[in-house]
Amino acid sequence: MKYFIENLPKAELHLHIEGTFEPELLFKIAQRNKIAIPFASVEELRQAYKFDCLQDFLNIYYQGADVLQTEEDFYDLTYAYLEKCDLQNVRHTEIMFDPQTHTERGVAFATVINGISKACKDAKTNFGITSFLIMSYLRHMTEEEAFETLKQSIPFKDKIKAIGLDSSEKGNPPSKFQKVFEASVKEGYIPLAHAGEEGDANYVWEALDLLKIKRIDHGNNALQDDKLVKEIIKRNMALTVCPLSNKALQVVPDLKNHPLKKMMELGLKPTINSDDPAYFGGQVNQNYIEIQEALNLTKRDIYELAKNSFEYSLLDDAAKKKHMTALEEYYISKKG
Ligand code: ADE
Ligand code: ZN
Repeated sequence: MKYFIENLPKAELHLHIEGTFEPELLFKIAQRNKIAIPFASVEELRQAYKFDCLQDFLNIYYQGADVLQTEEDFYDLTYAYLEKCDLQNVRHTEIMFDPQTHTERGVAFATVINGISKACKDAKTNFGITSFLIMSYLRHMTEEEAFETLKQSIPFKDKIKAIGLDSSEKGNPPSKFQKVFEASVKEGYIPLAHAGEEGDANYVWEALDLLKIKRIDHGNNALQDDKLVKEIIKRNMALTVCPLSNKALQVVPDLKNHPLKKMMELGLKPTINSDDPAYFGGQVNQNYIEIQEALNLTKRDIYELAKNSFEYSLLDDAAKKKHMTALEEYYISKKG
């Protein structure tokens, strides 16, 4: 099963580039930029990656991102993630980035996006991995500030596929961002959002009806509401599920109680993702491996999850078909 998962062609659809920041690279970049960090060693820094709810995690995650300053930093961060994609047979990835985390500190929007995009371009050449970028608005900030970010993004529109909504969910409902989502869609961006991670089913309803999202990031708490589940199925929308994130943030304290299998049985379309792999204890393949073990998933289930990852990606139909055909061939040859 482990071999089957490791060699399975797959896409990753829920990944924050700032959440891929491994302590070793963080240390290296902090030294390069001559930034003092309150940790004497990589090991000490790793020990500090402790939290049991979204807000405690976010505080550490934003602190780590503060050492990123130059285009080279964003390039190195992104390329390191894409190298890991290559090793895990991730053929396509949709990468979220949080421009406000950086522009707030005086780093130019151009520095962030140019570094990330160059790494994506090189990974396409070197590994054949395709990627799209998702510009995420921080929900703890104001809608006015999100509008400012939208404005800054316009010269780089060709590099951005979609918009997202992340950070502290509770108390910051999707309705807070309705206008900036409308304006972003007018610019050609595809609307996506985190919803139902810590927030309740109402947050998911708002994301669907007010933000008109095309895919739900997390969505666990949608299962609280049968009518909502039916609506998500009717709209044929996928959920980007992140098992190890759910465990680390106590959204689902024990993977044995994770709702993934139930989602599949209900007819929902979950995908498997790593969210913030440097912080949650595993890359995407480890997420597949641990959830497979916890729920006793079959090769057929794993195949369905990987199929969802291509089918509900933002790729065009021809690219989806190419990937799904390769995946099916792999499944038929290895299902035993
Ligand atoms: N930013 C990075 N990871 C996140 C998560 N899991 N939820 C909300 N915002 C995030
Ligand atoms: Zn996330």
